[in-house]
Amino acid sequence: MKKIVVLTGAGISAESGLSTFRDAGGLWEGYDIMEVASIDGWRRNPALVLEFYNMRRKAAYEALPNDGHKALAKLEKNFDVTIVTQNVDNLHEKAGSTNIIHLHGELFKSRSSLDEHLVFEMKELEIKLGDKCPRGSQLRPHIVWFGEAVPMLETAAKEVMKADIFIVVGTSLQVYPAAGLIDYVDHNTPIYVMDPKLPYVSPRANLKLIEAKAADGLPKLVEKLILNFE
Ligand code: APR
Repeated sequence: MKKIVVLTGAGISAESGLSTFRDAGGLWEGYDIMEVASIDGWRRNPALVLEFYNMRRKAAYEALPNDGHKALAKLEKNFDVTIVTQNVDNLHEKAGSTNIIHLHGELFKSRSSLDEHLVFEMKELEIKLGDKCPRGSQLRPHIVWFGEAVPMLETAAKEVMKADIFIVVGTSLQVYPAAGLIDYVDHNTPIYVMDPKLPYVSPRANLKLIEAKAADGLPKLVEKLILNFE
């Protein structure tokens, strides 16, 4: 089986009703990203950060996967698929994908603010000020914020290096180190980049740019890959 690695970003969940980050001019539904999604923001105002993620968690809980997520899940019948997502929602899981690397964490997990290895599946949709980990520290969202290391990066890079086909969908490729994963792709490997507003990708031989929304474009691309590469 050929190996397909897919790098996804906020755009793949846009048609499921979840907002992207950079389409609204640096504001995420009225919040300044750096206030709510950085380690400094957390230190300054944990209540605001918890409120922001509680709101996002509720929205993600109610959201359904769209035809883009579903098409990627379908790929698993014919290919060995790894999804590397920058998204913290669980729409790839809900669509049925089984091999997902969450680079930037997961909304439905909480963790200790003392020890990044103390991670918990959440049973409720909110983390409140005063909710403590077993070691007594405030629980925080299991999210990789600006100013923090990306622990899953190396695992993701190893997968990207092994890809026979690489797909990038719904990301502005503005946030590093995630955006740099494309540089790990073997130079013979075809790369498909899909986005209604295509991000800049340095030209290379096997690059195919597809100006399309995920829910429309991915089912078509998946059909094509199944026909051509199986
Ligand atoms: N289908 C596909 N792509 C879409 C769609 C759609 N329906 N709608 C919008 N897009 C594209 C936009 O054109 C844009 O290029 O999705 C991309 C979203 O880009 P960003 O908002 O920058 O999101 P992303 O690249 O995932 O952000 C990376 O930044 O704030 C941090 O940690 C956060 O994981 C996030 C990271």
